[in-house]
Amino acid sequence: MPATKPPPESVLISESCLQHRIRELGAQISIDYENQELVLLGVLRGSVLFFADLARAISATHPSDPDCGVQVRFEFVQLMSYHESTKPSKVQLIRGGSNYLEHRHILIVEDIVDTGHTLKFLREHLETLNPKTVKVCTLLDKPAQRQVPVAIDYIGFEIPDAFVVGYGLDYAQQYRNLPYIALLEST
Ligand code: PRP
Repeated sequence: MPATKPPPESVLISESCLQHRIRELGAQISIDYENQELVLLGVLRGSVLFFADLARAISATHPSDPDCGVQVRFEFVQLMSYHESTKPSKVQLIRGGSNYLEHRHILIVEDIVDTGHTLKFLREHLETLNPKTVKVCTLLDKPAQRQVPVAIDYIGFEIPDAFVVGYGLDYAQQYRNLPYIALLEST
């Protein structure tokens, strides 16, 4: 079946602006977790591009100087959320974190916090895995859509109440590979 023609989009956050902010986030995280092990927990699928760039912006320990930098580990979960206007949002766990998370410092890496239901669900799931600490880093925060309060420790950009795509975020599974964040003109 041919793909439906995607609606037009316009740039909201440029590639250079994204990369600049991600370097700042990485520098702050490097300071906050210096000399510690940190598990970056990516939330599939939307966070993959942000995850990859953020991970590279965090200073790694160097073999010649193991007392500097952050020992970064990678883990992933996959969640799916269903939003219907007449019912509360439902979040489903497709793939959970491993037992490796027990007694570790975890940084959840999200592309966007919208209603907050995904993050609330994930935090409750992680509590069952007994981590040492859990913090959250999201590239985008859309507070106008929040339905449940959630604590966020690192925010890339606060954005207006509009449908955004690109840099991991999709519309009907399209646009994820755009290197910038775009606004959909009409959906
Ligand atoms: C998106 C996004 C977040 C979640 C945020 O995931 O990646 O995980 O929605 O929304 P919320 O704050 O309203 O819960 P989605 O379920 O669309 O899956 P995807 O990452 O595979 O695109």
